[in-house]
Amino acid sequence: MEVQHLLSGFCSTPMVQNPKTQFFARLPSSSSTASTYFGQSHKWVSFKACPCNSQRALSRIECRSSTERSGVIASSDSEDLGNGIRRKKLAVFVSGGGSNFRSIHEACIRGSIHGDIVVLVTNKQGCGGADYARDKGLPVVLFPKTKKEPDGISPIDLVAVLRGLEVDFVLLAGYLQLIPVELIQAYPRSIVNIHPSLLPAFGGKGNYGMRVHKAVIASGARYTGPTIHFVDEHYDTGRILAQRVVPVHANDTAEELAARVLREEHRLYVEVIAALCEERIFWREDGVPIIRSKENPNEYS
Ligand code: GRF
Repeated sequence: MEVQHLLSGFCSTPMVQNPKTQFFARLPSSSSTASTYFGQSHKWVSFKACPCNSQRALSRIECRSSTERSGVIASSDSEDLGNGIRRKKLAVFVSGGGSNFRSIHEACIRGSIHGDIVVLVTNKQGCGGADYARDKGLPVVLFPKTKKEPDGISPIDLVAVLRGLEVDFVLLAGYLQLIPVELIQAYPRSIVNIHPSLLPAFGGKGNYGMRVHKAVIASGARYTGPTIHFVDEHYDTGRILAQRVVPVHANDTAEELAARVLREEHRLYVEVIAALCEERIFWREDGVPIIRSKENPNEYS
């Protein structure tokens, strides 16, 4: 697919047979215009290069439509915090249940985050996070293309979609695939991930889910907790942005520990995304990102 076409415009069509020329997103099937995409039954339809609309204008309509119909306060470029900081557009990447995604979405709705989720990206179309997004009328994009998920899109098309939706930040929330270099280069210092241990301990390829908590318990570590870090080309090695300490109890099972860490993940991720959207992240000369306190602008963590 030619990215030029993606950037020039989208229009919806019913389920198509030729995934080579089109990419897929989870949207209602009965719609023929962007303004009627949401709030109806869902089935696979595609976005397709279309000369009839400006993609930029259309993507705005899609986002507004999705948020309005799901009860979210619609975003607007002119809406700011009173200091000229506009609301940010967020893409969330999920492979599983999506409890972090839900808590981020809820925080956007209640106004704790100065931004809106405009798309959910997943490598598993049937995962809980994707179901939640569909239920809320949020666009779902399948990435990457694999044997199991042949409707998935390529890295270049993913970048085009995110650009088309004017995404400011990419938030990984339990997304179990390596992020392609095309996306990392397109979004410098704008992709963050949450990991359920105090990195650099218990990170890296294969360290995900319950494996992390089992390894923490087996190590005898007395403290663990979530880490939020910027994303580079490798697993869990990007610059650390925030951490929160959680105690490991002597008789913890991995499940009990995971639940305790997850509660803290939900709080920490929302706080950090709020800081990102309010432009309170600063970069030290040595390349370490730090967060300016909202309450006390002279204080950083
Ligand atoms: C979380 O533990 C997160 O740290 C890790 O994957 C898990 C996702 O959980 N990256 P959920 O899908 O948000 O419930």
